[in-house]
Amino acid sequence: MEVCQSQTDAGIFYEIRKELPMSENRYLTFALGKGRLAKQTLEMFEKIGITCEEMKDKDTRKLIFVNEELKLRFFLSKGPDVPTYVEYGAADIGVVGKDTILEEGRNIYEVLDLGFGRCRMCVCGPKSAEGLLKHHELIRVATKYPRIAKDYFYNKKHQTVEIIKLNGSIELAPIVGLAEVIVDIVETGSTLRENGLTVLEEVCPLSARMVVNQVSMKMEHERIAKLIADLKSVMETSCK
Ligand code: PRP
Repeated sequence: MEVCQSQTDAGIFYEIRKELPMSENRYLTFALGKGRLAKQTLEMFEKIGITCEEMKDKDTRKLIFVNEELKLRFFLSKGPDVPTYVEYGAADIGVVGKDTILEEGRNIYEVLDLGFGRCRMCVCGPKSAEGLLKHHELIRVATKYPRIAKDYFYNKKHQTVEIIKLNGSIELAPIVGLAEVIVDIVETGSTLRENGLTVLEEVCPLSARMVVNQVSMKMEHERIAKLIADLKSVMETSCK
């Protein structure tokens, strides 16, 4: 019996996992963030011969999809839940945006930048808020990403701010006077433009990342390393 050690609060679950056979017969389980990222992930996986026909049926109500031949299982979940499934070992591998990884702060390995879903985490607001940032005024910052916003303002900028957590349509906040600025994702910039807002500062670039459970990385090293190498070579070929 393998002894698995984990510093995480998922330790108990690992104790159970270590009894499972770690062989070619074991399914590798993937958690994919629902929506565009999952679609792009599956397209990329197809290029390395990993397919899941069951998942292509748009009318299906199934939650988990299996490729028996390759001993793979896939499920879709809300983006922020992907790191949770991976930390606890309910999924060996996950694909999720870097924004979610930073915000969730889970004990998982980030192993590959998949190169799609590129966008930026930015501080945005009306042009008039520029001075407030420059002079480190005590301002209100609305965001769906309080951990990222706190880290940026407190640890990087050393600016004291009040963070207000919202769950969507963040651009509304400075328009209706809830906050002076927002910390949010900017992709094309059209939401900002259409609402008279602009990027004031860039926090960090974002894209889809592959994450791996810390125990799976050891126990299933060969299969996971091959998967990473195959994906890297597909990415290199498509760059040429
Ligand atoms: C995201 C983000 C911005 C928008 C940016 O919102 O929060 O609002 O997309 O994209 P753009 O720069 O291409 O306009 P999402 O559509 O995910 O919905 P939400 O506002 O409910 O978070």
